[in-house]
Amino acid sequence: MKKIQLLGDITPAQFLRDYWHKKPLLIRNAIPGFKPLVKLEALAEMARLNHVESRLITHFDGSWDMQHGPIEELPPRTSGEWTMLVQGVNLYNADADALLRQFRFIPDARLDDLMISYATDGGGVGPHFDSYDVFLLQAQGKRRWRIGPQKDLSLVEGLPLKILNNFTPQEEFVLEPGDMLYLPPHYAHDGIAEGECMTYSIGFRSPSYQELGEAFLQFMADSIDLPGRYADPDLDAGKHPAEIPKHMLSTIADELNKVRFTEDDVTIFLGEHLSEPKHNVFFKGPAKPLTVGRFAEAVAKRGVALSLKTQMLYRGKNVFINGESFSVSKADKAVLDVLANDRRLDGAALADASDDVMEALYTWYQDGWIELA
Ligand code: SIN
Ligand code: CO
Repeated sequence: MKKIQLLGDITPAQFLRDYWHKKPLLIRNAIPGFKPLVKLEALAEMARLNHVESRLITHFDGSWDMQHGPIEELPPRTSGEWTMLVQGVNLYNADADALLRQFRFIPDARLDDLMISYATDGGGVGPHFDSYDVFLLQAQGKRRWRIGPQKDLSLVEGLPLKILNNFTPQEEFVLEPGDMLYLPPHYAHDGIAEGECMTYSIGFRSPSYQELGEAFLQFMADSIDLPGRYADPDLDAGKHPAEIPKHMLSTIADELNKVRFTEDDVTIFLGEHLSEPKHNVFFKGPAKPLTVGRFAEAVAKRGVALSLKTQMLYRGKNVFINGESFSVSKADKAVLDVLANDRRLDGAALADASDDVMEALYTWYQDGWIELA
């Protein structure tokens, strides 16, 4: 896929300074001549699969309904006011992955996925807000967006989806193929299909501190080191056997206060956490893997590429891939950083790779994390 000019006449730096998290941006013709990457039949096929996250939202006779996938059967295309949404299309489709990667002026640690929605005339997900930034790229047909910065984010109670109580849009645009709308978090919006249409959402992840805190405590459970065991050589005879002794409480509080963590602990936790595949992502290695020797020969000729599903990150001397962390030498790090940034390595770059790197690559190849390019 050719390099695309996504942000019209502003640079990524200007976008991040003036719009990111701040205000909406409409970019007409963000991708000139944009052609849809996935046909409706292929999208519906994905929505039928167990491991693909999908939803069907209907607004028949003025009442909202939502069904989670797998979606066996869609309402007729001729009946308006329904939409099918498929998450993570980039995990299964190389063109969708290439489109998502055009947004890498924002770090991989923040990029989430490409969701595709297909709607019949009048279809949409209703007026709502999202907790994340989003780029809404019109891929096919037309969609009328109404948006507003409202403070009242109260939702209609008792519905299976988030619908704003009092939607008060301030701007309205009809997007055509190749147009793109950026919305910051919590910006109210409602997109209604005018005829059949497809919209691609480029989504971001911003984990809650609560989620991070809970996961961090689990991570630390594997690495804390508190030697010794509670003892009370000066125990006094007491009158209240059910009461927890004061000495026991204070001694144990002192011991637990020795639990410490360093920035290194946070780095490794974060790298593992952010590169961890989602629960519905499964890797499949090659049916007939090459032997180590043949793999080395093939790699020298063709190079390697990360699988669409692989998340590879790094920080300092640590490299993270699909939830695992490695502390590596400076020379190995230089090679692996290129693989993480370019998502591929050509054969020449691997000519001087250490045995450790080649061993890691072979394991990742067997696990389906990387492929021969
Ligand atoms: C859609 O594509 O219909 C919904 C996207 C959104 O509003 O976030
Ligand atoms: Co939304």
